[in-house]
Amino acid sequence: TRLALIVPAAGSGERLGKKIPKPYLTISGKTILEHTLRKFSPLPELEEVVVSTSPEYRERTERILDELFPDKSTRVVQGGAERQDSIRNALNTLSERVGLVAVHDAVRPFIETSFIRLCIEEADSRGAAIIAVPAKDTIKVSDPSGCIQSTPDRKNLWQAQTPQIFKVSVLRKAYEAALEENVLGTDDASLVERIGEPVYLIEGNRENFKITYPLDLRLAEWLLDEAAR
Ligand code: CTP
Ligand code: MG
Repeated sequence: TRLALIVPAAGSGERLGKKIPKPYLTISGKTILEHTLRKFSPLPELEEVVVSTSPEYRERTERILDELFPDKSTRVVQGGAERQDSIRNALNTLSERVGLVAVHDAVRPFIETSFIRLCIEEADSRGAAIIAVPAKDTIKVSDPSGCIQSTPDRKNLWQAQTPQIFKVSVLRKAYEAALEENVLGTDDASLVERIGEPVYLIEGNRENFKITYPLDLRLAEWLLDEAAR
């Protein structure tokens, strides 16, 4: 099955607190976006790559895509106010030729290609699959006053990562329903879950963390510099 990759890169990186948006920070000679995209370049089934970004970064992103994917169909689309809007804009441009779509955050450069392959296989046979890791901390549910309401059994709790891979028809249907019902999810799987389609978990590893807070950036710099040595 032919695969499209959507990489949302249009966020402002508020929690990191840098002037430059996270995907365009340089570590060990390359932008974080390039480190991330490279993990997908060995995949023979990959047909299309779409990156959502802000107008200031359009040209820079086009150059990166041309260099990394010279013989694939690549394009840059305008980001939206929310991650979900950025992905919707990309989803709207996919060609009819692709059967599967992978969504992967620009700021998860440590994904291993072997896990992407596992996720593709699972999505191809079952419709939808995501990479996740077992919850490390005990998770609490609070009420609005900040009082703990419940403690779900940690055995059943997972931290969702990306890639999240879907049959294109399934993700399109989920995005249409979300638009109609005005739903904003924090990941793509949640939109698919709510239309009643099954999404399977694949256990990945903790190296595939999302660069979100300053500590994450320090760890990423350390790991990438280490790898370059
Ligand atoms: N993203 C996007 N469009 C948005 C918001 C986020 O394309 N409107 C992208 C980010 O660039 C990032 C990925 O979605 O690659 C994951 O989002 P997150 O880590 O939350 O990044 P930011 O939204 O930039 O960070 P913050 O929430 O701290 O502002
Ligand atoms: Mg965000």
